[in-house]
Amino acid sequence: MDISNNPIAHFARNFLIFLALLLLLYSLCLSTEKFASTKSPINSSHKFQDSNSIRRIEDSLARARASIYKAARRRRHERHVSEQNGTFIPTGTVYINPHAFFQSYIEMEKRFKIWVYKEGEPPLFHSSPMIFLYSIEGQFIDELENNNGSSFLAKSPDEAAAFFLPIGITHIRQYTYASLREYGLTQFHNVVKDYIHVLSKRYDYWNRSNGADHFFVGCHDWAPFVLPTSNHLSNNLIRVLCNANISEGFKPNKDVSLPEISVPPSGLRVPVPGRPPNQRSILAFFAGGAHGYIRRRLFEYWKDKDAEIEVHKYLPHGRSYRGMMENAKFCLCPSGYEVASPRIIESISTGCVPVILSAGYVLPFSDVLDWKQFSVHVPVSRIPEIKTVLKGISMEEYLKLQKNVLSVQRHFVLHRPAQPFDLFHMVLHSIWLRRLNVRLST
Ligand SMILES: *[C@@H]1O[C@H](CO)[C@@H](O)[C@H](O)[C@H]1NC(C)=O
Ligand SMILES: *[C@@H]1O[C@H](CO)[C@@H](O)[C@H](O)[C@H]1NC(C)=O
Ligand SMILES: *[C@@H]1O[C@H](CO)[C@@H](O)[C@H](O)[C@H]1NC(C)=O
Ligand SMILES: *[C@@H]1O[C@H](CO)[C@@H](O)[C@H](O)[C@H]1NC(C)=O
Ligand SMILES: *[C@@H]1O[C@H](CO)[C@@H](O)[C@H](O)[C@H]1NC(C)=O
Repeated sequence: MDISNNPIAHFARNFLIFLALLLLLYSLCLSTEKFASTKSPINSSHKFQDSNSIRRIEDSLARARASIYKAARRRRHERHVSEQNGTFIPTGTVYINPHAFFQSYIEMEKRFKIWVYKEGEPPLFHSSPMIFLYSIEGQFIDELENNNGSSFLAKSPDEAAAFFLPIGITHIRQYTYASLREYGLTQFHNVVKDYIHVLSKRYDYWNRSNGADHFFVGCHDWAPFVLPTSNHLSNNLIRVLCNANISEGFKPNKDVSLPEISVPPSGLRVPVPGRPPNQRSILAFFAGGAHGYIRRRLFEYWKDKDAEIEVHKYLPHGRSYRGMMENAKFCLCPSGYEVASPRIIESISTGCVPVILSAGYVLPFSDVLDWKQFSVHVPVSRIPEIKTVLKGISMEEYLKLQKNVLSVQRHFVLHRPAQPFDLFHMVLHSIWLRRLNVRLST
């Protein structure tokens, strides 16, 4: 798949100058302030906040851009960098530009401050599921709000470069719909529009950027649609989405692709190397439901048909899912009802080379990671040829791919509290890059 979005490489030319365009009159004043928490009375000093604050922030971001741009042209890490110990230093072909990435990461740690809006009450705000398919939503909110050590939290909104809307997308789906068989986006639109309406009345931060330095995190399939598309509220907002489908309006320069991770009730998992490459006895493995057209096609050609391409609806008797992955050379990761699949992370965290079967999916962290170095992409149209494609990969090439899988594991593991360069910090880094793409007028 060709995803030619690489803000690190391009941002220096791509600064979108956000003029303070007059907002279309937000006439949908249907919304009430029912979600506003009484804990935060209107603080008029925020409406007319220190006008120097935005200049200070933009100056800081400008310095970050300059140093990343400089690092991007360097061939090697600076001397003092390579001499540091105890710090992870990205090197190798899995990175599009390890120097730019490392510099950008350092700049992020130094300068990126996020304000989490306090308004709103759980369960619709400030909470979402912490386990199973959409758990990254709850985990993200919890990490940012309840980890007193998160060095990324701004002490006041005036020092924030980005603003987090702590909307629990999956909880909104669970609590505002009569049943999970009820479809329609009205409830979503009302809740989210209402929330933004409250914040933009109460504070100046939304209006001054038209939402361009604001973000929310959503893994639910419907997360891309929580605001009407091509609406003045959603046009600039940074949407951090599992469902990063280009055909559904995902904009790689503005939105962030969020890895889907299924946290089991027993707790977070740590990655393992799995079996050594020469002891992996299964060529390719998949087990799961026939959700969506890509998996149906996969089943049509491969379900229970071939001893080497193990494609099943149910696991073979007595086999464990992770055990199969630890023992497979390649793990098939077809999209389901939506583009993202937790299998990609499961595959990486068991040392199995992921085979991405998708269309229009912008892969997570593809600004910094070169996915071709640690995964295989088979277009949907070539599903019948999967076996030929995988058998055509030489042992030498496979060993390289598999070694690279192990080397990117750290970026796909969720720690609580978060640790440098882990999944949470990689997501923050993706948001940081989107924020760098924007310059607010001062
Ligand atoms: C309003 O915000 C300012 C700046 O953050 C703070 O110093 C002040 O105490 C706040 N006032 C109220 C009533 O919350
Ligand atoms: C860093 O290097 C010094 C000297 O080589 C060593 O004493 C120290 O333990 C190292 N620290 C870490 C965190 O690796
Ligand atoms: C906050 O962090 C400090 C230092 O890491 C720790 O001692 C304290 O228990 C933490 N408090 C909470 C509520 O997590
Ligand atoms: C932001 O803009 C909206 C729509 O123009 C307006 O209703 C609101 O009062 C503005 N907010 C502030 C804090 O001025
Ligand atoms: C991506 O979006 C398009 C348009 O809605 C849809 O037809 C397609 O099935 C989606 N892709 C996947 C893998 O879900």
